Amino acid sequence: MAQSRQSPARSVFGSLVLIAVVIGFGAAAFAYTAGWFSPRRLTPDRFVQALTPPTGEPLGHRRNHAKGICFTGVFEANGAGSALSHAEVFTRGQYPVLGRFNLGTPDANAADATVRVRGMGLQIATPDGQEWRSAMINAPIFAVSTLPAFYELLLASASKEPDAMKTFVAAHPEFGPFGAWATKGPWTGSYAEERYHGLNSFVFTDGSGADHTVRWSLLPAAQPVPVSPDDLAKRGPNFLEQEITERVRGGPQRWTMAVTVANPGDPTADPSKAWPGDRRTVEAGTLIVQQIEPERDGPCRDINFDPTVLPSGIRTSDDPFPAARSSVYAKSYDLRTAEAKDYPRTAPGAKP
Ligand code: HEM
Repeated sequence: MAQSRQSPARSVFGSLVLIAVVIGFGAAAFAYTAGWFSPRRLTPDRFVQALTPPTGEPLGHRRNHAKGICFTGVFEANGAGSALSHAEVFTRGQYPVLGRFNLGTPDANAADATVRVRGMGLQIATPDGQEWRSAMINAPIFAVSTLPAFYELLLASASKEPDAMKTFVAAHPEFGPFGAWATKGPWTGSYAEERYHGLNSFVFTDGSGADHTVRWSLLPAAQPVPVSPDDLAKRGPNFLEQEITERVRGGPQRWTMAVTVANPGDPTADPSKAWPGDRRTVEAGTLIVQQIEPERDGPCRDINFDPTVLPSGIRTSDDPFPAARSSVYAKSYDLRTAEAKDYPRTAPGAKP
């Protein structure tokens, strides 16, 4: 076998070059997968950029659904959900909940009556150490079918071009049902009167190993009272937070969790398409909201309601939205938690 005639110094240099080449290749591969070499590729950065409102980045706040208020309570499972998933959260019993009511806007100071979409972030924890996180909205269907279409919608709605939205809608007929809900559906005066829909589909696996593709919604016990946006505007810019704080102080608020099962052939990868109304629906339990706390010092401030944080017995489906949402929410989370000084806490002794 030939002996190496390299001096020790040269061989160290050679190794360093090799390491640099390996690291360089790895970084290039990473950059490629992150889309840095392909300017048209959608990345978390580009989504976050496209979400920036005219008022500027909401420093210290979520990059979307920026205005919100925390709640705590319990999920009371009635046991019926176990027919669909073996996750412990469906075994009869009470499990602690942390959540957040919010407005679907990247403007942390938006007036409540100006925002059509209202949302709920929810985390249910179970004694087996698992968590189910979800972020739902009051619209019964999503605005668009695909992630590129969502990106185009963000650009069109921020565009100064007068026909931008018209052009977008003409190119995206799937926007129709969402547009009809947004313009003709009733508004309410309370987070407690809203239905919250998960919209994306997920796969539940039951105790026998059988899979069921589902979507879920939370249906309020409180009777919705329609109020026009003009009348809501008269209630002040923060009426939703004031109202829910007072309402929950007066007594816990409840929602039924309804899990709807797809039939074969139903669109499971497109959240803009409703499933027919006759699909099997299982009422799995009740969300009980017991306490409201302001976000600034509250327990929902530093949580990411990433819809891919799921217990065993629930997994993502062929719907591409949750994985993309997960990466964009992580980017938003990283930004806002690094900007805590721009959204100072007030509680004595709180971390910055
Ligand atoms: C079915 C579709 C979707 C629903 C139901 C939904 C719902 C929500 C809700 C309720 C929140 C607030 C959660 C909280 O209180 O922390 C939220 C946050 C957010 N959403 Fe979505 N969303 C959807 C799709 C998307 C998409 C496609 C994007 C962008 C690609 C996006 C970007 C964001 C961002 C950046 C946040 C802030 C995340 C954080 O900092 O924690 N969402 N979403």
